[in-house]
Amino acid sequence: MKVLLVGGGAREHALAWKLTHDDPSLELLAAPGNPGIAELGRCVAVKATDIAALLDLARDERPDLTVVGPEAPLAAGLADALREHRVLVFGPSEAAARIESSKAFAKQLMLDAGVPTARAERHVRADDAKRAARSLGAPLVIKASGLAAGKGVLIARTLGEADCAIDAMLVGHSFGEAGNEILVEEFMDGEEVSLFVLTDGTRAVPMLPAQDHKRLLAGDAGPNTGGMGAYAPLSLATAALVDEALERIVRPTLRAMRAAGAPFSGLLYAGLMVAPGGTSPRVVEFNCRFGDPETEALLPLLAEPLLPRLLGVANGEADETPLRWTGRHAVTTVVAASGYPDTPRLGDAITLPSSTHADVHVFHAGTARQSDGRLVTSGGRVFAVTGVADTLAAAQRSSVRMASSIQFAGSQYRADIAWRELERHAGAA
Ligand code: AMP
Ligand code: GLY
Repeated sequence: MKVLLVGGGAREHALAWKLTHDDPSLELLAAPGNPGIAELGRCVAVKATDIAALLDLARDERPDLTVVGPEAPLAAGLADALREHRVLVFGPSEAAARIESSKAFAKQLMLDAGVPTARAERHVRADDAKRAARSLGAPLVIKASGLAAGKGVLIARTLGEADCAIDAMLVGHSFGEAGNEILVEEFMDGEEVSLFVLTDGTRAVPMLPAQDHKRLLAGDAGPNTGGMGAYAPLSLATAALVDEALERIVRPTLRAMRAAGAPFSGLLYAGLMVAPGGTSPRVVEFNCRFGDPETEALLPLLAEPLLPRLLGVANGEADETPLRWTGRHAVTTVVAASGYPDTPRLGDAITLPSSTHADVHVFHAGTARQSDGRLVTSGGRVFAVTGVADTLAAAQRSSVRMASSIQFAGSQYRADIAWRELERHAGAA
């Protein structure tokens, strides 16, 4: 088997690790990959957003399957271009990727299909948006409709903050084109849960629910980031909650996508807001790909090979047999660069500990190998370090221990990933 993996972050390193761990004879090709992935396969210097070059690569290399990691190439039509050239691909079409690339589209689809989500109005004019804000009342959420790397969402505690956000997006074009259309949305209270579903458009199999930590600082304080860590499983997301989410959210959404002429095939990521006690999930957002850093926590817990599942989805024959999990716990701690998330400093020399451990995974996110072989930082999030153990507390300890022993100037990480769940465990004891 030969697999072409598109992307070069820690999510793709985790996918590369899982695929080659399951099948050491697998031939792995990554575009562009990263220094971590380079230890598992061949990396080709083609950007994940260069559709024409990726198409050429796939036609030259003839992979049995192409797996697309990030949303940008999917939203730009990579999966469609590959399918036109009879390349088997795991990832949705451009039309189906709109579930992530247009929050306005996703919101309308949910409203039409009766999928539980926050009330919202879409607007292109600031005065109309401000009127909508007044009729909803604070707190509320102002969202750029288009792709903004997870940064196009502002939680406004007051109408004054809402007005500023509306002006920034619609008048100041602070998110460029992504913010030319906005959503003015009801604020939902509760805890967020990430539910990933492998689907061929009709059949669907859920993965273990996970939770990520978007804020920079301990205790979920500080600015929003791309994600500072994640863990799984979480007791808040019971089997009953997953069933409810499948029946009330995922299946109606898949049906609506088929009816819209845009069947969704690949990984549907439902970001859920769950009320205290773990009931009444509502959709915060959909993404059209594996989440980052949740994937780095989930894949080391998967007790069966991943490739057959991906092939099933890509072939339109997804297997609905429940996935098998190890029953262990995983905590992923992200190690970020100095200055992240605003202005990450790049080019700092990295020293990795020489010891390795089967239950500790160091996934590369923003690293680069210089011509002299030295490893340096090359992105905001530099590593995602996953500890796997029989208890959550032990998984957190091993993840933090490894994160603290990765050395580069100004590195920052949170030592409290999974704190909510650890409090729940303490409360239950
Ligand atoms: P999104 O890009 O839509 O996932 O939004 C980014 C983050 O903003 C989410 O993960 C939530 O933490 C928060 N958020 C978005 N929409 C809402 C909402 N309606 N109520 C509360 N928090 C929200
Ligand atoms: N974990 C957030 C995301 O992947 O968008």
